[in-house]
Amino acid sequence: MSEEVKKFKITIDGQTAEVFPGTSILEAARQIGGKSVPPAMCYYSKLETSGGRCRTCLVEVSKGSEADPRPMPKLVASCRTNVMDGMEVKNLTSDKAQEGRKAVTEFLLVNHPLDCPICDQAGECHLQDLGYEHGVEGTRTEFERNTYEADDLGPNIKLNMNRCILCARCVLTANQLTETREHGILFRGDHAEISTYLNKALDNDYIGNIIDVCPVGALTDKTARFASRVWFTSPMNATCKCEKCSGKAVLWMKGDEIVRVTARKDQWGEVEEFICDTCRFDRKELKFWNIEGPRHIDRHSVISLNHYEKPKDELRVLDNPMAKEISEKDEK
Ligand code: SF4
Ligand code: FES
Repeated sequence: MSEEVKKFKITIDGQTAEVFPGTSILEAARQIGGKSVPPAMCYYSKLETSGGRCRTCLVEVSKGSEADPRPMPKLVASCRTNVMDGMEVKNLTSDKAQEGRKAVTEFLLVNHPLDCPICDQAGECHLQDLGYEHGVEGTRTEFERNTYEADDLGPNIKLNMNRCILCARCVLTANQLTETREHGILFRGDHAEISTYLNKALDNDYIGNIIDVCPVGALTDKTARFASRVWFTSPMNATCKCEKCSGKAVLWMKGDEIVRVTARKDQWGEVEEFICDTCRFDRKELKFWNIEGPRHIDRHSVISLNHYEKPKDELRVLDNPMAKEISEKDEK
C-alpha cells in the first residue's frame, strides 16, 4: 500500500497553497496563480536543469519553515529553491524583492540594445515586459556595449547575439530534444556567447523550437523575420496531419496569409508541445492546416490587447480555497 505523502504548506504574498515536497517556490506560486508569480527568464518547466541563471525570479523568504522560522538572509532564486513546510515568501509585498528585480533588469539590459521597434520579438518579449515594469529611465554605464554581427545558424534560424541574455534555454532544448547538439555557450563571463561548433549549421529536426523557448529576440525565424509586427497578426489554433509531431500549432495570420507558425504556449509562455521543423518552416499554406479558431493569449501582451479581451492582471486567487478564504477576510 502506498504511503500518503505529507504536503508542505507555503504562503506567498498572503496566499496559501499546499504542495508536494520537492516543489520549487516558483512552481508553488504558479499553482496559486495571479500577479504574485515571479517572472522567469531562464527557468522552463519542460527542460531539465533549467533555471538559476537570470535571477529575475528573486523573492524574499520571510520565514524559512515551521521548524526553523528564521528568514533567509538574502533574496533567493525561486526557481531553484524548494518549498519547506510552513515557509512564508514575499514577492510583490517585498520592497527588497522588487528592488532586487529592478537591479537584475538593469543588469540584463547592460549590453542589450533597446531595439524593440525593429525586433521581431517585440510584443511577446519577456525582457520587454520586465523593462516596462522595472526598468530605469537611463543607463548608468559609460562603456561600449558588447556588439556582434547577426549570424545565420543554419537555413532557418537567425542569431542576434546582441539581444541574448545567456539563459541557456536554447542549449538545453537542443540537448534534450534533438538528436545532436551543435551549439552552446562559448567562452566565459563577459565574453560568453552562443555559437555553433566550428561553423556547423543547426538543421536538426525540432531545432526550430529554440526560437520558441528564447525569452528575447536573440533567435528568430528566418522564414518570418520582419514579415509583420506580431500585434498586426491573428493567432489561430490549427492542426495538421504530421507524422513527426502532434501537428498542434499556432498560425499567425494576416488575412489568408500564414506569416509564421509556432508551437502553442501556456500561460507562463512555455511551449505546451514541441513541434517539428516541417510544420514550423515548411507548412505556410492553408491547405496543410485545419483551423480550430482564435488562440487565447494569456500573457499581458499587446497581442491580446488588440484582438481579444483586456488582460486580467488583478491579483487572482484561482481555485485555491485557502487563498480565497484569506482574500474574503481581507475584503471584509
Ligand atoms: S539565444 Fe535566447 S534562448 Fe539562447 S541563451 Fe540566448 S537568450 Fe537564451
Ligand atoms: S528564472 Fe529563476 S534564475 Fe532565471
